[in-house]
Amino acid sequence: MKIIVCEDYDEVSLRASEIISKGIKEKKDIKLGLATGSTPQGVYQNLIKMFKRGELDFSSVSAYNLDEYYPIRKDDNQSYAYFMKDKLFSHINIKPENIHIPSGEAKEPAKECEKYDSALECAGGVDIQILGLGINGHIGFNEPADELIANTHLTPLTESTINANSRFFESIDDVPKFAITMGVGSILSAKSILLLVTGKNKHKALMATLKGTLSTSTPASVLALHKNVTVICDKEAYYGDAV
Ligand code: GLP
Repeated sequence: MKIIVCEDYDEVSLRASEIISKGIKEKKDIKLGLATGSTPQGVYQNLIKMFKRGELDFSSVSAYNLDEYYPIRKDDNQSYAYFMKDKLFSHINIKPENIHIPSGEAKEPAKECEKYDSALECAGGVDIQILGLGINGHIGFNEPADELIANTHLTPLTESTINANSRFFESIDDVPKFAITMGVGSILSAKSILLLVTGKNKHKALMATLKGTLSTSTPASVLALHKNVTVICDKEAYYGDAV
């Protein structure tokens, strides 16, 4: 794993957006694996600025999102479909048919998961997968558990994740209790992975991820199996209280 320790959130966003923009310039039809949450928002803002300056063209780019709450309507302003539209897609020239997000509206979630994995397989895996890190070490919504699931699947959310994500909802009772997420195998099928981690509250999860030992209690530890992972973190996440 390559580890880049940055001064702060803005530098993390800058370094990640430089890597992604280089990828888009080198391969017009690049396939990007995208994440939600607070962490990648700075990257998306930078990509929008580059697009507006005429430096980037998304017309051939495809996007595959990691996860979506279940059940949730696409137009619900808490859905990840809405988040992606609001934070990135509506500001760039990506084609709607090139946007892939697991559907929180699917009547049969198991079928939706199979369909999503087939789409990823047809794409040959994404070129660059952006990942955030849960404070409990989750990636996507692969939560700490006795077993990790390889393929895209429906998963219950842990109490820790429901609590962490309640900051986006009016009340904790409004947070969905399930999600559809790419599995750890689907994530590892990416050609390269960028793990973005900021803030002291991620220090413990980041250290467990970087240990080089695999544990289902830190799902992100499976990244040790991948040959092309770059961790871009800030000092607070890397050094914790020692900063
Ligand atoms: C969320 C998402 C993840 C995200 C993580 C961290 O629940 N499912 O994809 O990376 O938790 O979120 P944040 O960046 O807001 O800390």
